[in-house]
Amino acid sequence: GNKNINAKLVLLGDVGAGKSSLVLRFVRGQFVEFQESTIGAAFFSQTLAVNDATVKFEIWDTAGQERYHSLAPMYYRGAAAAIIVYDMTNQASFERAKNWVQELQAQGNPNMVMALAGNKADLLDARKEAQTYAQENGLFFMETSAKTASNVNELFYEIAKRLPRV
Ligand code: GTP
Ligand code: MG
Repeated sequence: GNKNINAKLVLLGDVGAGKSSLVLRFVRGQFVEFQESTIGAAFFSQTLAVNDATVKFEIWDTAGQERYHSLAPMYYRGAAAAIIVYDMTNQASFERAKNWVQELQAQGNPNMVMALAGNKADLLDARKEAQTYAQENGLFFMETSAKTASNVNELFYEIAKRLPRV
C-alpha cells in the first residue's frame, strides 16, 4: 500500500551558503537574487511522491549567523534528515560545514540521513564557460590566486614556454 511518511528535515550551514535559497527553490520553485539573511529559523513543508511512499518534509531552515548557533539543537533534535549546505566558492563556508557535521555526529540522531550540499555550482559553470571561451579564442586559461600564490609562477612560466624562440 501507499505509505505516508512525515520527515523532519533541518538545513544547517554558514551564513550565505544558500540554505533559504535551496528551500525556496524546492518549495516554491523560485530564486531571489537578494535573499534576506534568516533570523532564528523558518519553517516550510513540502510533499514528495517517491515510489510507494508519500513523504511530507517538515523543513527547518536555520539561520547561519553565529549568534543563532545555540538554537540549532532545537531544530536538529529528532530530525530524520539534515542538509549541510556550503558555498562551493567559499572555503570558510566548507570549514563551517565540517563543523556542523561534527556536531551532528556527536549530538544528532544516529539514524539521521545526512546530506552535504555544495551549493552555487552555477558559479563553477562560469569557470567552465571561461575555459571554453579561452579554448575557442586561442588563449590558455589558468585559475590563479594572488593570495595563496596558486598558479602565479605557473602563469608566467606557461607564457615563457610559449614565447617564440628566435
Ligand atoms: P543565512 O540565512 O544568513 O544563514 O543564509 P542562507 O544560507 O539562507 O543563504 P541565502 O539563501 O540567503 O543566500 C545567500 C545569497 O546567495 C543570496 O543572495 C542568494 O541569492 C545567493 N545564492 C543562494 N544560492 C545560490 C546559488 O545556487 N547560486 C548563486 N549564484 N547564488 C546563490
Ligand atoms: Mg537563510
